[in-house]
Amino acid sequence: MNDTRGSIDYADVQGLVRFGYKHMTEGCYYVLRIRDAAAARSWLAGAPIASALEIKPPPPTAVQVAFTAEGLRALGVPARAVEGFSTEFLTGAAGDENRLRRLGDVGSDAPSQWEWGAGARAAHVMVMLFAEPGRLEGLRQSLLGQGWNAAFEEVCCLDTSDLGGFEQFGFMDGVSQPQPDWDLARNVVGDKVTYENVVALGEFLLGYKNEYGKYTERPVLAADAASAALADAQDAPGKKDLGRNGTYLVMRSLRQDVRGFWRYVQSQAGGQSDDQDALAALLVGRKRAGDPLLPIRERSIPGVGTDPEHVRLNQYTYDGDPQGARCPFGAHVRRANPRNADYVDRPSGLIARVGEMLGFARKSFRGDVISSVRFHRLLRRGREYGPKLTPADALLPAPPDDAERGLRFLCLNANISRQFEFVQNAWMMSSKFNGMTGESDPLLGNRLPIAGGLSTDAFTIPRDGGVARCLRSMPHFVAVRGAAYFFLPSLRAFGYFIGKGNA
Ligand code: HEM
Repeated sequence: MNDTRGSIDYADVQGLVRFGYKHMTEGCYYVLRIRDAAAARSWLAGAPIASALEIKPPPPTAVQVAFTAEGLRALGVPARAVEGFSTEFLTGAAGDENRLRRLGDVGSDAPSQWEWGAGARAAHVMVMLFAEPGRLEGLRQSLLGQGWNAAFEEVCCLDTSDLGGFEQFGFMDGVSQPQPDWDLARNVVGDKVTYENVVALGEFLLGYKNEYGKYTERPVLAADAASAALADAQDAPGKKDLGRNGTYLVMRSLRQDVRGFWRYVQSQAGGQSDDQDALAALLVGRKRAGDPLLPIRERSIPGVGTDPEHVRLNQYTYDGDPQGARCPFGAHVRRANPRNADYVDRPSGLIARVGEMLGFARKSFRGDVISSVRFHRLLRRGREYGPKLTPADALLPAPPDDAERGLRFLCLNANISRQFEFVQNAWMMSSKFNGMTGESDPLLGNRLPIAGGLSTDAFTIPRDGGVARCLRSMPHFVAVRGAAYFFLPSLRAFGYFIGKGNA
């Protein structure tokens, strides 16, 4: 069931979906509230939003804009259009107690503790600036003059820093990404028995078929003068598609306690830095230089790219490690992407499948809580912030004015509930993930006991033929400082939002 109807209109897609803007190593995110809707529409009308069209040489700067549901309402977008977006987007990242609890945003990570994202500091609009070295200040100056203050109240400007492709704990970042099927050639019919890295475009862009072969829920409008410029809805003849070529953007400011992380690792590993690196790699699920903890496979995984370095770092699954002895089940990357196909926790391949059909399959209690990964992939576009601290320096006493550092986590997905929230809740925070008890993600866990008083601050390191090692009393390393669910519209939907169709 290929999505053959139409090709991609890259000029209508914001560039961030297709490019990470890696050469633009400077960046910042303005979290804004709309002061005056007319002034905001007028500023936005002049914003030079970069599209996903490939330009050679690549431009030195890029501007992207995203809106929360509250922001769309404040801008004056008609209720019938706003109401067509998904429930979690409409409720917002801070808007539902049950969801906050499921995502782990409680205790010191609760919205009441956030610097931005809740109450009077909830975002309406996020204006993202990206620039080549030395160009950010000029871009900022050129944009902020023209009616900016009349249009917006600045909640904060989230700065970023370039740590040369490494995140603050000192591990290579951005190694594994799903490959969106830009050619619309993926066939999603039938079960997938092997792990693949190519994912239907509809998982990352609305208005295209997803991994179920269906169009994800989105606002589809009656055709009228205001909606005339929008794309036609592929699955609803005569209707206009406000979602097509847009996607949801999840933003979370995550403060990292780099000193706390390496001190804990040192306390558990002993004095040698090699031992510390090895233990830290088990928590993350990769070595600091990005190497996986499992051998590279000979058989090729579709969609891990052609660049030899990228292939080297991603050509593996956990099939050969059913006990978690090489990469613990609870390691961050194994939780974030268990790399299984539709038959969870069962070896892939024809012989194994035939054995399974004949009833020889190993019975497992793990699979039911893992789920097929192709429905839960995230396109990550995060950037670091704050000054770098090496693992060795992290073990020295902290200065009184120690700087804050962390990750501006940003991911794109067509269904926040099925993608970001599922990963965060069922895989990262769940203390029952993969048959375990008493632990959550070693990097992200808030370490609070769950109902019934069960603790979540352990980490199990299974060992081949031996008793598993269990780390205990793991501190809280990553704190949530702010969050929001945005919609990153297509250029046409952006025009609709600012009332271009009514002009
Ligand atoms: C401060 C917080 C975080 C840190 C330090 C961190 C660190 C890392 C590192 C070092 C990697 C391996 C390199 C790579 O593939 O990029 C990774 C992978 C990944 N992380 Fe995180 N991460 C954080 C937050 C999150 C959050 C909030 C999520 C989602 C809820 C997430 C989802 C993922 C995914 C999906 C992968 C790729 C796994 C794979 O495909 O093999 N991370 N992270």
